[in-house]
Amino acid sequence: MTYTDKDRKFKRYTVTTALPYANGPIHIGHMAGVYVPADIYVRYLRLQGEEVFFIGGSDEHGVPVTIRAKKEGCTPQDVVDRYHTIIKNSFEAFGMSYDVYSRTTSSTHYKTASEFFTKLYNDGKFIEQTTKQYYDEKEGTFLADRYITGSCPICGNENAYGDQCEKCGSSLNATDLINPKSALSGSAPILKETKHWFLPLNDYEEFFKDWILNNHKEWRTNVYGQCKSWLDNGLQPRAVTRDLDWGIKVPLENAEGKVLYVWFDAPIGYISNTIECLGENWKKWWQDKETKLVHFIGKDNIVFHCIVFPAMLKAHGDFILPENVPANEFLNLEGDKISTSRNWAVWLNEYLEDFPQKQDVLRYVLCANAPETKDNDFTWKDFQTRNNSELVAILGNFVNRTIVLTHKYFNGKVPARYELNEIDKQAIEEIKTYPEKIGTLLETYKFRDALFELMNLARLGNKYLTENEPWKTIKTDENRTSTVLNISLQICANLAVLCEPFLPFSAKKLQKMLNLNVHSWQQGGNVDLLRENSAINPAELLFERIEDEQIQRQMDKLNESKKHNTLNNTKANPQKANINFEDFEKMDIRIGKILEAEKVAKTKKLLKLKVDTGIDERTIVSGIAEWYSPEEIVGKRVAVLVNLAPKQLKGIESQGMILMAENPLGELSFISPEKEFNPGSEIR
Ligand code: 2FM
Ligand code: ZN
Repeated sequence: MTYTDKDRKFKRYTVTTALPYANGPIHIGHMAGVYVPADIYVRYLRLQGEEVFFIGGSDEHGVPVTIRAKKEGCTPQDVVDRYHTIIKNSFEAFGMSYDVYSRTTSSTHYKTASEFFTKLYNDGKFIEQTTKQYYDEKEGTFLADRYITGSCPICGNENAYGDQCEKCGSSLNATDLINPKSALSGSAPILKETKHWFLPLNDYEEFFKDWILNNHKEWRTNVYGQCKSWLDNGLQPRAVTRDLDWGIKVPLENAEGKVLYVWFDAPIGYISNTIECLGENWKKWWQDKETKLVHFIGKDNIVFHCIVFPAMLKAHGDFILPENVPANEFLNLEGDKISTSRNWAVWLNEYLEDFPQKQDVLRYVLCANAPETKDNDFTWKDFQTRNNSELVAILGNFVNRTIVLTHKYFNGKVPARYELNEIDKQAIEEIKTYPEKIGTLLETYKFRDALFELMNLARLGNKYLTENEPWKTIKTDENRTSTVLNISLQICANLAVLCEPFLPFSAKKLQKMLNLNVHSWQQGGNVDLLRENSAINPAELLFERIEDEQIQRQMDKLNESKKHNTLNNTKANPQKANINFEDFEKMDIRIGKILEAEKVAKTKKLLKLKVDTGIDERTIVSGIAEWYSPEEIVGKRVAVLVNLAPKQLKGIESQGMILMAENPLGELSFISPEKEFNPGSEIR
């Protein structure tokens, strides 16, 4: 394995993935940001023969969980029990190769987190401070920042939360909000004194400046930049406890009603899960300087993993610190921010129902398009293209052609390699470069580039096969065909090794087809992986085309979500200025009956109607053609403003106006009398 100088001192790897909140299923944003790259990294290390411990688990405390429970009318424990199982199953289904996947409501975790807090407390690492916090008098409870809404002081958004404005992205303090309101009772909260324990991050400022800014310049620019900005602005003490009834009780006397802050307990979960899995043997993974600790997270977790958790570990004194924190940016979906509450997401459990057995396709697309340096967009069209034009047309096609031809010409036995020409020699030299090329990229967390190189090996295979045309030479020079297919098969075997971290399911399938036992990355680069005359199995398709209809179904699903959200979440327009009764009385509104309807030529929106108003039969031009067809509205009773001054519309005089209701999507609906009243009946 190619180590950088820095890496050489490490004997083993502890790799963690952010513990997802168990308040909803996992979506593609989580996978692209954290889990796919982490799993690729770990699988690669294992193939390299490295000792690795790979940790996952569910984050089951915190306000997001209590909010969900409140919404669903159940207990927080019910919520986390349900989602922990769903999340764990999804990860398993997608091939996440965890050594442990546990949860922060486990008894081991309660014990570990409490002991961690107690040690810091006993060592005098906290400061005790009484501060004023929002309190809901009606509910008799302090309010977590997420439970307070109000106007954002920066952009004016009226629905900002006490910790963040989702409109402008500013992170806020609850006391910054203008007109704060409790999300529990809707009442205005009061400020009330409460005591908490704070970790004085400011005491570690010089340490962090040296550790990160001087000694970890190799961290990703986004990570380094965020840390620098925090450090430049100066660190402040951070409360590690909260007034809440869901969480790990503060293990002190006189701490009634107080729990550990979720961001204090969750990262300790990495350690608890190790203990739960390994018992006494956990320490070398967390306390031995020869262990390399790597945290895979999304960008919203950077400060917690680069500053807060390391400060906790440092305050404790026995622990190693992360060597790298390769945080990704965010993945958007069809141009919009992924959102659990707006159901704007592709959920893993639903994906697998719609695309059974296609875990690798999603792993591939999410890695190929991973938001490593900037936010990226997932679109279903791109998903289809990457499947059809890359996985099917490049990788699948090359493997398939090679195996089919081997069966056709050589009875499914690996044919011999005869005299090599320049093209063969060049191809062989090139094959040898891939393990190193891909490995170096993976070790420096460039997963997209690494995947691109893997596909280049398949591209090389396709090109080699196409240029050497073994199906032609078979007629004139069987030895030539034999050589070309041997080399092509060796490329397939190399792919079967090198694709394992990225596409573990397809790798298995391919290894089985080739009767190849893969155990080491070093098998890559070898052009004698498949021995002459050894048997291979018949070709099975590695990937299949995804058709337009399948993509359309996914788009329809998303559009449904969007529609649902717009209808349910759009606020009514503000009320107009008051008018007096005389103003209202000026309008003559009647029930009218539509007698005839036809489209107005050369327009999309207009219908020409003949309406019985009870007073007369008149022509009215109405902009409803997108919502009603002429046939369906004849005979309908509708509301008509009959004394609106006549107006020429497309050369037709419109004598009045049909009144319509409009929803937030701009859809129009007639307003019809609930009883069959005669035309001419007045509306007032
Ligand atoms: O942002 C989140 O989803 C958090 N639940 C991540 C926690 S990571 C770790 F500290 F456990
Ligand atoms: Zn704002």
